[in-house]
Amino acid sequence: MEQYIIKGGKPLVGEVTIGGAKNAALGVLAAAVMTDEPVRIHNLPDISDIDILLNAIEALGAVVERPNVHEARIIGGSITTCIASYPDLRKIRASYYLCGAFLGKYKRAEVPLPGGCNIGSRPIDQHIKAFEALGAKVVKQNGMLIAEAERLIGTHIYFDCSSVGATINTMLAASMAEGQTVLENAAKEPHVVEVANFLNSMGANIKGAGTDIIRISGVQSFHGSTYSIIPDQIEAGTFMLAAAATKGDVLIKNVIPKHLEAITAKLVEIGAEVEEFDDAVRVVAKKRLVNTKIKTLPYPGFPTDMQQVMATLLSVAEGTSYVTETIFENRFMYVDELTRMGANICVEGNLAVIEGVEKLTGATVEALDLRCGAALVVAGLMADGCTVVEHIEYVDRGYENFAQKLCGLGASMEKINSEDEKALRRFKLRVS
Ligand code: EPZ
Repeated sequence: MEQYIIKGGKPLVGEVTIGGAKNAALGVLAAAVMTDEPVRIHNLPDISDIDILLNAIEALGAVVERPNVHEARIIGGSITTCIASYPDLRKIRASYYLCGAFLGKYKRAEVPLPGGCNIGSRPIDQHIKAFEALGAKVVKQNGMLIAEAERLIGTHIYFDCSSVGATINTMLAASMAEGQTVLENAAKEPHVVEVANFLNSMGANIKGAGTDIIRISGVQSFHGSTYSIIPDQIEAGTFMLAAAATKGDVLIKNVIPKHLEAITAKLVEIGAEVEEFDDAVRVVAKKRLVNTKIKTLPYPGFPTDMQQVMATLLSVAEGTSYVTETIFENRFMYVDELTRMGANICVEGNLAVIEGVEKLTGATVEALDLRCGAALVVAGLMADGCTVVEHIEYVDRGYENFAQKLCGLGASMEKINSEDEKALRRFKLRVS
């Protein structure tokens, strides 16, 4: 098992470049198999979720070439089965996008029920409701989601809640249905727009992505495409908050500032300085930050994926902060770990009340999900002394070269093997 060891107390200073958006890339890669022609995708993040999905696509019979870790060339024409049985698929959330893609293209799909971070019950009732509305028969059995239809007929679908996954999955299936489909109460996240843009680049007819009403005119087939993934809003936000948490001065490059507006607004509100450029933001914090209220909401509200790192930042801010998580029911698992480091946080239902303390102190903590892991790394960067973050395989699912990028900004941290006691001693000697 690998872990990060971090010597805290150093401000992050310098420049960092953000990679492609994980949650957009996963939807785009699933959509890429909907054409029989070659598709070339650039600016993929080099993270384990992407590798798992590409391996699964190759196992289905598609041609998958990797000219480099940030690029994939896919030819879906050689796919031989609609049954996605690649074992690791059930570890990732995005496995279910293959259901919408295959239902649209082949009118049949059998994929593992989704995995992903344990941050709540994460039902897929809205996905199933949409597929059935389009005319599919959908069953869950033996851990698989099975959908099939004689024909997919466009229809009017009203989602009961704003769901990124259900919106993307339904766009995939409806893009090759007969006639018009209207999605109401659709998710508006940047990665929903990205998947719609990619589908349109292959010849789909999707309008309104990024608003809560998406109109889709089904087409019979797609042509090939060359596409580049947008920058990752959550990776960018993580580095913005890390810069402020360490009272640093960081230029975060290759971002879309508009996608970061909710994070920027909160950073300015608590006393950090944020300067926006065309494709970069600079975050500077010189003094102790102050308290605020956070309520996670669907885009363009404050992102749920930023909640944990923001709460970490607020754990040493002056005053009492309130963080309300409205999207997932189990996204405060990091609180017990932060408490080991001296944080003073009380969780009641979906509300965390954070009494700002002077400082955190290093401890051994455990990454319990992807964004929890990122938050604990930021906590380690802020804390006095050494912090060990265990189970960092979660972090590697969503952050490419996380330790390298942070060390490039002056952090003292290493990725070590938990059994390697000498590495731990060597690091502590080196940084003491
Ligand atoms: C996507 O998850 C992201 N994952 C999540 O990021 C992100 O937190 C989430 O969207 C919200 O922005 C990927 O894109 C791979 P949802 P998803 O469907 O699609 C409920 C990360 O850290 N819901 O928008 O699973 C659901 O329970 C990950 O990168 C239903 O009730 O999220 C939740 O309360 C974590 N029925 C809310 O909607 C459904 O059928 C939002 O879920 C679907 C969802």
